[in-house]
Amino acid sequence: MIKNFFQKKPVATILAEAESKTLVRSLNGFHLIAFGIGAIIGAGIFVLSGKAAAEHAGPAVVLSFVLAGLACAFAALCYAELASVLPVSGSAYTYAYATMGELVAWCMAWLLILEYGLTSSIVASGWSGYFLSLLRDFGITFPPEYTAAYGEVIKGSTATGIFNVPAFLALLLVSILLSLGVKESARVNNIIVTIKLVVIMSFIIIGAFYVDPANWTPFIPENEGVGKFGYDGILKGAGMIFFAYIGFEMVSTAAQETVNPQKNIPIGIIGSLIICTIIYIAVAMVMTGIVSYKDLGVPDPIALAVDKIGLGWFSLIIKIGAIAGLSTVMLIVLYGQTRIFYMVSKDGLIPPIFSKIHPKFKTPFANTYIVGFFAALAAGLTPLSKLGDLVSMGTLFAFCVVCFTVLYLRKSQPDLNRPFVCPGAPVVPILGIASCLYLIYGIGWSVFVTLKIYFIAGIVIYLLYGQFKSKLSR
Ligand code: ALA
Repeated sequence: MIKNFFQKKPVATILAEAESKTLVRSLNGFHLIAFGIGAIIGAGIFVLSGKAAAEHAGPAVVLSFVLAGLACAFAALCYAELASVLPVSGSAYTYAYATMGELVAWCMAWLLILEYGLTSSIVASGWSGYFLSLLRDFGITFPPEYTAAYGEVIKGSTATGIFNVPAFLALLLVSILLSLGVKESARVNNIIVTIKLVVIMSFIIIGAFYVDPANWTPFIPENEGVGKFGYDGILKGAGMIFFAYIGFEMVSTAAQETVNPQKNIPIGIIGSLIICTIIYIAVAMVMTGIVSYKDLGVPDPIALAVDKIGLGWFSLIIKIGAIAGLSTVMLIVLYGQTRIFYMVSKDGLIPPIFSKIHPKFKTPFANTYIVGFFAALAAGLTPLSKLGDLVSMGTLFAFCVVCFTVLYLRKSQPDLNRPFVCPGAPVVPILGIASCLYLIYGIGWSVFVTLKIYFIAGIVIYLLYGQFKSKLSR
């Protein structure tokens, strides 16, 4: 039986299955870059960037962005190669299945639930924060206990949270949209991504005129303890900021709905990462140039910077942009999660309901509603602000496996057709692994312990269900 744990799914089988698919191919390179940007720019820049500056890195949060962006660049090149070899919806899960066997593949799927599922819940909380703040600007308020997760202390109120209703409803709405079809979702996504980009670019351009260079001194504040400023703080900040980059790899989950995926998936992955890295560095420069880093530890740091400029109308626009931006992140990470489950279910490791396709909408209908409901429930019930580090660490581990898979596949199957070749291999994949491990180290031990428990739970599920139902075994 143990031998089954390491059984591999042949690359030819994976490709043949993808060809006999029932999903419709309608996405092109442009859609995929928009898809990537839609997934990437979200809670990381709109919420976490200020916290990273105020608590860990100071103005040098700019360097945290560079560090995290570099680790992602190495991983992105590896993702692009694997996605060109295996253009199927399962992403890192499928890559592991083809190379390191079923158990590692299942562990990857389990990590991806953390990355995709929990990210959608975290982002929904951020969305709810900006949404409520915007409504408040118009004098509309809600009972505070229904605007925060269970047990969460609400700022400026004596109540504690019972259920975050806006976050719950937002994710349900997103699920309905997704269940209706990919092309429709892609169209909505393109419009919202445009709004989000215009708003962020306006912040960079208008904000640049209000920068006071005095706010950048000291650029690297003196170290005050573990992870608090100095070089140590830059690293800790990079671990936190890494969350902001999560999403470029999700482009690969759209492979089976993409025209000419061997070419377009690498374009989507690398294109969206480059654009977002440039935007992030510029936003971080402007934000820390307008407001002293000490004041940035608020849930809406960019809106705070705009308030400081004194342009009330622009603050309103920033909030609308943030709401739009966070909406697309929810849409895309939830999409990614349903497609991963679709593949895992096709392989028998989770129940068949997750791979049933709706006859009219051609989407994994039940899958979308189940995933959407549980993600929404998590967003409504759990105070998620602290879970960002857990998601980042889980994702960093997944990136390590992807970089390793490139090395492994080059060695084990050197003659495979590789429409996109990761440049500089084996150095680039090795640098990818090293930089991801460095960021994991920066995030810290306590998060690692939680991740270990989560991991063990995943292995138990495989032992009780997956190994018996695996299609490959049967
Ligand atoms: N990168 C995405 C965000 O920042 C997950 O919200």
